[in-house]
Amino acid sequence: MSISLIGKSIGESATLKLNETAAILRAKGEPVIHLGGGEPKTKPPIDALVAAAGLLSSGEVRYTPADGIPALKQAVIRYTEEFYRRKVAPEQVMASGGAKQAIMVALQAILNPQDEVIFPVPYWVSYPEMVKLTGAVPVPVRPDDGSFQPRIQEIERNVTSYTKAVIINSPNNPSGVMYSEEFIADVVRFCEKRGLYLIMDDIYHRLIFDGRKPINCYDYAEDLSENSKLVVINGVSKQYAMTGFRIGWAVANKRLIEVMTNIQGHQTSGPSSLLQHAAVAAINGVQSSVEGLRMTLENNRNVMMAQLDAFDGVKATKPDGTFYCFADFSTYEKDSTKLAEFLVEKVRVVTVPGVEFGMEGYLRLSTCGSIKDITEGIERMKWALDPNAPNELYIGDRKLVRDWM
Ligand SMILES: Cc1ncc(COP(=O)(O)O)c(C=O)c1O
Repeated sequence: MSISLIGKSIGESATLKLNETAAILRAKGEPVIHLGGGEPKTKPPIDALVAAAGLLSSGEVRYTPADGIPALKQAVIRYTEEFYRRKVAPEQVMASGGAKQAIMVALQAILNPQDEVIFPVPYWVSYPEMVKLTGAVPVPVRPDDGSFQPRIQEIERNVTSYTKAVIINSPNNPSGVMYSEEFIADVVRFCEKRGLYLIMDDIYHRLIFDGRKPINCYDYAEDLSENSKLVVINGVSKQYAMTGFRIGWAVANKRLIEVMTNIQGHQTSGPSSLLQHAAVAAINGVQSSVEGLRMTLENNRNVMMAQLDAFDGVKATKPDGTFYCFADFSTYEKDSTKLAEFLVEKVRVVTVPGVEFGMEGYLRLSTCGSIKDITEGIERMKWALDPNAPNELYIGDRKLVRDWM
């Protein structure tokens, strides 16, 4: 069969595949613990549900402007003022089918084939594939010191005449680490100086712990005129637990938003009207669910860290935010795909292999589930991996016998 070169170069989304595996096993009645998930289990804000239900029952669900309904743009403008202390115009905002589509369309608007896009390792699984979808080249950059904190020198060293953009995601999926203020300041100034686009994927910026405050990239920009190449991405998926609503947005200069809107107009005609109304209600409505989710995640992070600290041979960096923890399991198995498959097969615990995020030997563990999921999940993993653990483990009334090691 004739398939395009770009089509052939794109891998399956590892995280979506794992969700599917977990769903299939669950449907068979298997006692799966899903530590691979990337979505909160809490309910979306009631305001969002009521708004969507109201519009649905009116039957008035129509096409919208390709860049989003005016009410959603206004909500994003207000959000940008509140969280970034920056006033933007409606022409600087485009709503999209999730932050994912907002990033994809931004990349399509700025990249030519062979251009290069730099992002730190570990990175969100979709960045390399999204860059490849435009015919451009992903350039993952690993911090020299083996930590999850990049430094500007590492970015600088990888810039070539083809470099067009840098993508920064902090707090970071998968490490949960928030990049230092110094690094964010450096990267904003560096990209400005070198004329590079800087895509700030801020999707987790409100889900941060230990009293931290979100870092505002605009604070370090000198040029916020129409020449600014700063693109800020956000969305409702994570902070409002509205993953299935598929609403995200981009804030950028007017010309870029115009081009992005033209592209999106021909791709999807813009996101669903129904779900845009739900997003407006979430952004403008009562915000207590965000704080509730944030506190739950902080508590879950503490439980996860306590479990991992007591797991011999495993090294984990304490996440500053998000709902992930990226732990080094290389003393047990260097091939993270093999390890993840082993854990699903033997103890029905789903994790995401680190190689998908650019780092072998690691597993991404999610703290989205219940405390019971976290504690029991890690207990099962310990049992599967620790040669000194007892030979048998009960999951409900099912007895597992370790016949490996
Ligand atoms: C870093 C990062 N950016 C963007 C997204 C996409 O978010 P959305 O559901 O709004 O498309 C995700 C989702 O997992 C993510 O982890």
